[in-house]
Amino acid sequence: MSGIDILGTGCYVPEYTLSNDELSTMVDTSDEWIYPRTGIKNRHISKTENTSELARIAAERAIADSGVSKEDIGFIIVATCSADHIMPSVSCMLQKLLDLPEHVMAFDMNAACTGFVYAMSIANAMLATRPDRLALVIGAEVFSKMLDYTDRSTCILFGDGAGAVVARHNPRGALQEAIFSRGDADASHIYIPGVPFAGRQEPPYCKMSGQDVFKFAVEAPIQSMKQILADLDCTIADMDYVLFHQANARIIASICKRLKIKDAQLYCNIEEYGNTSAASIPIMLDEMNRKGLLKKGHKLLLVGFGAGLTWGTLYMEW
Ligand code: ACO
Repeated sequence: MSGIDILGTGCYVPEYTLSNDELSTMVDTSDEWIYPRTGIKNRHISKTENTSELARIAAERAIADSGVSKEDIGFIIVATCSADHIMPSVSCMLQKLLDLPEHVMAFDMNAACTGFVYAMSIANAMLATRPDRLALVIGAEVFSKMLDYTDRSTCILFGDGAGAVVARHNPRGALQEAIFSRGDADASHIYIPGVPFAGRQEPPYCKMSGQDVFKFAVEAPIQSMKQILADLDCTIADMDYVLFHQANARIIASICKRLKIKDAQLYCNIEEYGNTSAASIPIMLDEMNRKGLLKKGHKLLLVGFGAGLTWGTLYMEW
């Protein structure tokens, strides 16, 4: 097995905090309804900065933390479903904004909230082909621009943010993934319409069947986690940390109860940020890194699930 080393991390969330109490002045809801059902108290909302700007700041912090030369970066992969434009990609914008060399391969990928797990798997494969280069892997979202703030079933859940890592191939490392998708072709679970086409025009806002997504989200990650543990011949107790995509505290609690995951194995920040989609896992990695919680050799599971439907678990050693 080979894998990747994370050389540095960074994150950024917009300054403005939208609390449950403030939301309840905008739409018919309350902290008493939101917090027990989701675990969310606040979310950070961007007033002026688009996805590329959040990504730029997170990436600059990750590059600074890693201490590497920009010349050594060969890949920029941005996981996002809220790019500034359909084209150019956020990653191509970053190549310019960060003054990175022309030899980088820069592209965005969209696996919604599973995006960072997919992106790390892609980075692992690409770095194995070019072990002399580094990858800048980012999850970045301005989800708030795709929310209808009259729809209380969605606008309470999501926030904006970005997280980034600088990764290097490690021939003696350990990275393994169990990744899945189940095409939701009629977009019955969660979707955001694209540009108007063939006379069909819908507002560009997220629509979701909350209960269907909830059922999917408590089942699917368990499948991918069980598969990876079987592949590794490990038990959940062997893991130092399990980092779940921060969608809903009740979803995480339900999975933890079924798989007997202890509180000490968890890191959660949903209370402050809400669901930041592809950014949630790298934001947690950066917070944990800066708090000194991650020690060399720690065994981590990164667990993503989201629209697509997509889901997956990635095992890596810090
Ligand atoms: N405030 C007050 N009342 C509300 C709110 C709100 N914000 N939202 C819904 N309600 C009401 C509904 O109108 C309904 O009222 P009614 O009974 O009078 O019709 C009642 O509360 C129950 O509604 P449900 O939709 O059944 O509420 P539920 O308990 O399922 O909770 C929630 C809704 C929190 C959205 C839950 O379904 C959920 O978390 N689902 C998963 C969503 C998710 O995680 N999505 C993202 C994952 S994918 C990705 O990350 C992109």
